[in-house]
This record gives sequence, structure tokens and C-alpha cells, in this order.
Amino acid sequence: TSSNKIVVANWKMHGSLALNQALITGYLHGLQSLPQTDVVVCVPYPYLPQAQSLLSSTRLGWGAQNLAKYEQGAYTGEVGASMLQDFGARYVIIGHSERSTAYCESDENIAEKMMVAKRHGLTPILCVGETLLEREAGVMERVVGKQLETIIRLFGGEAFAGAIVSYEPIWAIGTGLAATAEQAVAMHQFIRDTVASADKSASASLKILYGGSVNPQNAVQLLNQKEIDGALVGRCSLDVEQFIKICQAVP
Ligand code: G3H
Repeated sequence: TSSNKIVVANWKMHGSLALNQALITGYLHGLQSLPQTDVVVCVPYPYLPQAQSLLSSTRLGWGAQNLAKYEQGAYTGEVGASMLQDFGARYVIIGHSERSTAYCESDENIAEKMMVAKRHGLTPILCVGETLLEREAGVMERVVGKQLETIIRLFGGEAFAGAIVSYEPIWAIGTGLAATAEQAVAMHQFIRDTVASADKSASASLKILYGGSVNPQNAVQLLNQKEIDGALVGRCSLDVEQFIKICQAVP
């Protein structure tokens, strides 16, 4: 169904002009021997021009970590989709749990952001996932299902056409405790089935990534699953050697 696997670096709120330059130079060097791997870097807003100038003549894509649900207007501190486009961004992370938790982002807001991104031709990287309590209670599919259903209810299954969903169990983010391949595969199947029951062709064009403590060791097993179309990498994306090793794990 989906073509190439994709590895997305999410720098979160890390970086500086000097550090970014070193990371991107390192990525580009390491990726010379991996001409097939699709790689995307999601940077803090102020560094979009830097990403654009360092990456525009390369095969790496870049994007942001959030966007406003509005086109423009009196929304102090917000950044709109057309602003991301001005700096060549082609991707945007939406609904990361660090935002949903810290900034009380609702499923409805997330759905609207996804549609704004799509309207502007940006590929949304929609994050979904359950807490540890929810997994222990066995309700993880209900939780992730609700996150997807909000979008389907408001905008239909076609919202997922050409999109990226990243399964990010909250208990696995930044904890060093990644989901097992079995846990990830089961949820990836559930996500694809949920989208398929709303729109078959959208589901076929959807990429589903895994995120949460991906490192060079667990990447091999995770990325070799046919249900896992790639990885969303936080901490290990800040270390060139580890990030390149994760990219090398793409079969
Ligand atoms: O967006 C990335 C995820 O939150 C995973 O972060 O690799 O540091 O666990 P992590």
C-alpha cells in the first residue's frame, strides 16, 4: 500500500543555529550511503529558514512541530500554515502528546489543524496514542479510536488520504521504554482498519509511523515490520550517529 518507509526527526524544543548546522551536516553526510531512505526534519519555527537554506537542494524534507488552526488573524503567538509554506515546509506534526497535555489541545482542535495543513498541501503527521493507565486498563484501542473518529466525524475518512499518522504511546515517549514490535503492529493494524472502514483508498495511501523511545537497537525490529511505515524519532534525532543508525535500520 505505502511506498518508502520514512524516518522523521522531531527535535522538539532543542537546537541553536550552530547545533542545527552540525546535525543537518551530519545527517546529510550519513545519508549519502542510504539513497533510498526518506528523511524529514521537524524543527522549531525560528529555524525553518535555516532548514530551508541547508536542505532545499537535498532530498531531505523539513517541517514544523505545530501550526495554528486558523488561516490568519488576531492570534498572538500562533503560526499559520501559509507561513510554514513560505519557508518550504512540507510536513507538520499535529497533536503531539506533549502539546495536548501541556497546552490542552482537544481532539477537535487537532482535527481542524489537520485539515488546515491539508488545505495548504502540507503533509500532516498526526500523533495518536494512549497513556500507561489506559494501556493497563486495556482500553488503548478505544482511546486511539476516539482520536481518529473525531477527525472522521468532522471531515470524513478522506482526511487521511496521503497523510501520516504516528502511533506514539505516551508511556514510551522519552522513557527509554519503547513499545514492542507486537504492540506496535497490533495498534498499526487497528489504525489502518479504522481509517479503512471510513475510506478504503485513504487508508491505502496512509503511512503509519511508530514513535516513542526509538533507538538504534529497537529500530531494526520495529522498522522491519510491514505494518510499520517508519519512525518518529525524538531524543535519538539529536545525535547524528544514533539517528543515522536508525535510518540504516530501514530495510
Ligand atoms: O516525536 C517524537 C516522540 O515524542 C518520541 O520521542 O524518541 O524522545 O521518545 P523520543
